[in-house]
Amino acid sequence: MYDAKELVHQAINAKSKAMPTYSDFHVGAALLAKSGKVYLGANIENSSYGLTICAERTAVFQAVLEGEREFEAIAIAGDSDDYISPCGACRQVLVELCGKTLQVFMVNGKGEFKQHSIDELIPYSFGKEFLK
Ligand code: THU
Repeated sequence: MYDAKELVHQAINAKSKAMPTYSDFHVGAALLAKSGKVYLGANIENSSYGLTICAERTAVFQAVLEGEREFEAIAIAGDSDDYISPCGACRQVLVELCGKTLQVFMVNGKGEFKQHSIDELIPYSFGKEFLK
């Protein structure tokens, strides 16, 4: 069993890597693979705004590039009063690449968090089974 508080702590630390040039909204992510390795992510913005990438996807893509295919949990940390909530695009990427049982820890600016499975956050998700 993993240490959720430690994963949350790593996501909070990862906020310092963010490049939120336009929004000034720092987001950090820490993705735990079943291998035990943690992959960090942070949002990176672009002057062509639509090219911005969220913290979650930087972490997932890094992990996949390292050969990881099975995951336990991701912690996502923002600076807002409310718990950060992953965007729709990230939910789709997370459910497809990390699996429906992925646990998502959503962290607010005080370091408090709540937990949901990705399947709860994106029910009836699209997937490769539809493409047959
Ligand atoms: N953002 C994330 O990185 N993750 C989220 O879960 C929500 C939003 C980023 C994208 C953009 O750089 C900034 O936060 C404001 O939307």
